[in-house]
Amino acid sequence: MPTTDTHAETANQAFWDEIAPVHLKSYGIEGLLKRISRIDPIQKRELYPVAGKDLIHLQCHIGTDTLSLALDGANVTGVDFSPKSIRIARELAARLGLEAKFYQANVLELKGLITEKYDIVYTSQGVLCWIRDIRLWADTIAHLLKPGGVFYLMEKHPLLNMYDETPNELRVGYSYFHQPEPACFDDDEPDYSDFSYIPQNRTYEWTWSLSDIVNALIGAGLTIRFLNEHDRLFYKAHPDMEQDGEGWWFFKERAGMIPLTFSLLAAKA
Ligand SMILES: C[S@@+](CC[C@H](N)C(=O)[O-])C[C@H]1O[C@@H](n2cnc3c(N)ncnc32)[C@H](O)[C@@H]1O
Repeated sequence: MPTTDTHAETANQAFWDEIAPVHLKSYGIEGLLKRISRIDPIQKRELYPVAGKDLIHLQCHIGTDTLSLALDGANVTGVDFSPKSIRIARELAARLGLEAKFYQANVLELKGLITEKYDIVYTSQGVLCWIRDIRLWADTIAHLLKPGGVFYLMEKHPLLNMYDETPNELRVGYSYFHQPEPACFDDDEPDYSDFSYIPQNRTYEWTWSLSDIVNALIGAGLTIRFLNEHDRLFYKAHPDMEQDGEGWWFFKERAGMIPLTFSLLAAKA
């Protein structure tokens, strides 16, 4: 029987509620609590300055990046559909004494919920596979932007979604192209941040090709200012990956050969 979108999103929400307290321990928030921004140098180079800008962070999880953007001067709002993530984000904001708004909501429902407009719509690192409708996602981003505002995305390169978890080889186990049915992951793979933790809840994930993503944003009326591809990744997506001195993951045997992350900036006229 096909999975309904509601069933898939409800399962994913339960997964993220399970993982939120795990990540509070594994995300290394000590630095954040010392007021050190966790935004990486690539994003800073591509997006900053953010100081004084009204910024909404979609799929903000436990708020560590949202609050980093606040430390760097942005007026921040974070949105996530996991109540436990939002509760932790609010607690971290209080501990840091930072002004930040956090809303619990499905990002695909924001058109009916948020009337404020933002200079920057931001989302990054592990977000698109949870989105069931890429056109609605792009329309929502356009809805949230002020005229002249920009959307910034940094995400795992969709090419990587093709490879399964077989060690010592890059084996194509999944289609590069979008499938109407989400893929269900119900295995004993450890969490991407706490390798000692095996999540109990299953996930349902969608894949979107680079053209799906770019064309959805163009279709929503945005102008792509740049699209960059990088040979480093922000988490260990395959058993063969190793970490470099700056914390990025890559395939040592194929360093510089495969795109692992992409980033883009799109503007609203
Ligand atoms: C990998 S995390 C966010 C990435 C962020 N860079 C981080 O690591 O803190 C993905 C987040 O997306 C949220 N999420 C997934 N689908 C969502 C949806 N439809 N609406 C709102 N939040 C969603 C999850 O609850 C989770 O907190």
